[in-house]
Amino acid sequence: MTIRNETVHDWPQLLLGWFRTHRRDLPWRTTPRDPYKVWVSEIMLQQTKVEAVRPYYENWLDHFPTVAALAGASQEDVLRQWQGLGYYSRARNLHQAVCEVQSRYGGKVPDTEKDMLSLKGVGAYTAGAVLSIAYGRPVPAVDGNVLRIFSRLYLIEDNILSAKVKKEVTHLVQEVIPHDAPGDFNEALMDLGAGVCIPRSPRCQECPVISCCQAHEKGREKELPVRLVKKEKPVVDVTVLVVSDGRSWLIHRRPEKGLLASMWEFPSAEGKGRAGLDAVRARLKEAGIRTGDVTGPAGTLRHVFSHKIWQMTVYTAPYTEGTLDDKEDWQWLPQVDYTRVPWAGPHGKITAIV
Ligand code: ADE
Repeated sequence: MTIRNETVHDWPQLLLGWFRTHRRDLPWRTTPRDPYKVWVSEIMLQQTKVEAVRPYYENWLDHFPTVAALAGASQEDVLRQWQGLGYYSRARNLHQAVCEVQSRYGGKVPDTEKDMLSLKGVGAYTAGAVLSIAYGRPVPAVDGNVLRIFSRLYLIEDNILSAKVKKEVTHLVQEVIPHDAPGDFNEALMDLGAGVCIPRSPRCQECPVISCCQAHEKGREKELPVRLVKKEKPVVDVTVLVVSDGRSWLIHRRPEKGLLASMWEFPSAEGKGRAGLDAVRARLKEAGIRTGDVTGPAGTLRHVFSHKIWQMTVYTAPYTEGTLDDKEDWQWLPQVDYTRVPWAGPHGKITAIV
């Protein structure tokens, strides 16, 4: 991480100065801060925008003004008051966690990371927000807003959705968070991210830390952050038939090119159920081998490649007739000697299931 010049060290103070005059007036920003109220607001804000949360938050506190009130409520009432906010597991988890706080901590919201993180529905972000805002502890609260801001300030060009960047940004926050105002600092980042350092077209002319922003200096603020959503890997069904003559297994060498090139596998084909078995039988016919009745499945295996997943179903069948002659891509492998061949990835594990 390159630090452009000495002024970059001052940016947290510039941000705090801006926050004093620009902070949003939000119902949970009370003086003094109530840890329970901060917690409720953070859970509500997890998947919902500030303006949508406001009326729910106020209604919630009318019904459940304290930890004791929420802990004493029925789940039905809790869900009724949450109705309309969506993602109902948030309400169920909050209720369960608040009951735990009531019984285990005498109604006091914990003030350590370890205890906060042990509560249902509380992750690193929520723990950091509550601990810094309500208890003045210098704990990072890194969400998408913070990742975006830091990617621009520090010109982080890696994918902000990666665990690596999240870790890096968490360390940076730990380094720069002012110990005398950690809650203000985290909330200032939230407000900066909500109104100034916004996605796509940031309002740099309104930004209190423009002079410290490495992306702005290079004119690259609109290119950041880099967000690369991982593509879902396709799942391919594979049917495997383990053919045995009692002593040896029939195995096949994969083609010289492509996935797991030239490695050995049990007879197999893409597809599942009857279609998969028919496809494997067609391959056995090409090899000149006939089998008795198929039994199974004997088991399933899932193998993850970089670009796809094999979902394998393994059946067994006894050899009945046919000879391989001198086919190079087929052989009978003595079972006692099963480590002799280079197995095609997951096929080696099949020897343990049959
Ligand atoms: N988004 C998440 N937490 C917030 C908070 N405490 N204030 C404003 N916006 C937020």
